[in-house]
Amino acid sequence: MDGLRIGYGEDAHALAPGRSLVIGAVKIDSSPVGTVAHSDGDVLLHALSDALLAAYAMGDIGQYFPPSNPNYRGLDSRVILQTVLQRLADQVGRYRIVNLSAVVVLDQPRLGPTRRDIQRQLAGELGIDASRVGVTFKTSEGMAPDFIQARATVLLETE
Ligand code: C5P
Ligand code: MG
Repeated sequence: MDGLRIGYGEDAHALAPGRSLVIGAVKIDSSPVGTVAHSDGDVLLHALSDALLAAYAMGDIGQYFPPSNPNYRGLDSRVILQTVLQRLADQVGRYRIVNLSAVVVLDQPRLGPTRRDIQRQLAGELGIDASRVGVTFKTSEGMAPDFIQARATVLLETE
């Protein structure tokens, strides 16, 4: 049992018209608003990447991709996630992602219809089966209409 680790991460961004909305590497074309962000603003990939680093006390993605660095403007967050996975492999050796559980808080649009796409994308990025990727959605009940947040928990196992 010594090889089990849990990791937790969060991210949030403001929403504004004329921006794209990307959640778990899936572009939500139906959305009239998108994230105000320095990268592509994919809160789910950011929360997941932080969760993976946190599992091994390796800091957070801001250390590897400082928002102040102009090179990271518009960055595809899949690059962030893959960089984190590589760092994990370098530092901890062989590891297995047991499962992922994530929540996205967003009032509009409804994300239920894109859940399978998001699960499949995340599973592909992580190299695990989609049955190990739980993704739930919540509104803020109108309390935060211009806001998106994601929370992610991962369980990992080393040999
Ligand atoms: O937040 P609330 O309890 O009202 O969410 C109820 C349902 O709405 C859940 O089934 C959730 O999956 C769905 N939902 C959604 N898209 C969102 C927010 C919630 O499909 N942006
Ligand atoms: Mg972010």
